[in-house]
Amino acid sequence: MANRNVITTQVAIMGAGPAGLMLSHLLAKAGIESTVIELRSRQEISETVRAGILEHGSVNLLVDSGVSDRVLRDGDRHDGIELRFDGESHRIDFKELVGESVWLYPQTDVFIDLAARREADGGDVRYGVTDTSLHDLEGTPKVWFTDAEGVEYELQADFVAGADGSRSQARSAIPENRRHRFVHEYPFAWFGILAEAPRSSDELIYANSANGFALISQRTETVQRMYFQCDPNEDVNNWSDDRIWETFRGRVNGNGFELKEGPVIDKTVLKFRSSVLAPMRHGKLFLAGDAAHTVPPTGAKGLNLALNDVKVLFEGLDSFYQTGHTGLLDGYSDRALDRVWKTQQFSYWMTSMLHTPAGADDFARARQLGELNSVVSSRHGRAYLAEAYTGWPGSR
Ligand code: PHB
Repeated sequence: MANRNVITTQVAIMGAGPAGLMLSHLLAKAGIESTVIELRSRQEISETVRAGILEHGSVNLLVDSGVSDRVLRDGDRHDGIELRFDGESHRIDFKELVGESVWLYPQTDVFIDLAARREADGGDVRYGVTDTSLHDLEGTPKVWFTDAEGVEYELQADFVAGADGSRSQARSAIPENRRHRFVHEYPFAWFGILAEAPRSSDELIYANSANGFALISQRTETVQRMYFQCDPNEDVNNWSDDRIWETFRGRVNGNGFELKEGPVIDKTVLKFRSSVLAPMRHGKLFLAGDAAHTVPPTGAKGLNLALNDVKVLFEGLDSFYQTGHTGLLDGYSDRALDRVWKTQQFSYWMTSMLHTPAGADDFARARQLGELNSVVSSRHGRAYLAEAYTGWPGSR
């Protein structure tokens, strides 16, 4: 188009969430240029409440690559979790089982740190863009967009990274006959709240009960994050504070344990599904994070998996720019999918083991307790959970 302003860069990145910004940061450190475009405003992303657990590998990536060490100061290291069922808590001791920990550090803070780092380093990140479209992905890729001031651009790049989330536009630019999408739906969703209350526990509690699943997480000394399993079509307006707390009590309280309650300051229904798009590449387009795959939130793997994709993709791009060889880049999809499917398995397993489908019969319920007991009563069972939760060693 004649009157589009042309920008050239090496890597065009769709999406300024943690995946897109981390990729841009790693590329910049290696002397590779990128331009990031994002539909939402920086403020809107900063205000989105997301999950909060970082694997040790994700923490290392943030700290060692120089994004920020705030996670080590403001985050909380957790050396285990509790599985609670049949009125009893069972600790999974990560440190003792696999020698690792996770950090409670909300995704919002990861975004804030990355956005600040890119800004401080002079990164080209454009928020609030509209009318984006992708062109010539198998030749010389171009991304068209209109910036927040209404100026139209053509971004020309060697490669495009699609890190634009679960409703990815980059993904839909891949022809139907060149991609396969694996999808699994769940018959439940999460009702998530923020409550003004003290901590009920120092570690996360994943609770299974005949009434359904609940998760007790934390945010600060005075604000807590908790979830309970609900119907995907649930309307938050039907839920008073009293009804919410009664639901939590029926799922976690008992045998001397009592949740600390307080005013509910935020409530949302979170729908989820498992999905994988394969391959995670089409021509010069590489997908990363939620654009390529989503997992249910049980285990909080979404962000961690996205950061792993980015690390693997960065290695491929860096190797190409250093040597001119595409070998590592060509292996991107297979290398990333290796961890994606292990994580799909773990997230599916945690979800099915802990949630109670509506209408579950007595066999299903008793079998589920058998499964939970088989995990907590065996060092091998606990160690599988601990290894997967804290994050397997790096990719092949
Ligand atoms: C959270 O704190 O938001 C959180 C923690 C663990 C999960 C999911 C969400 O598995």
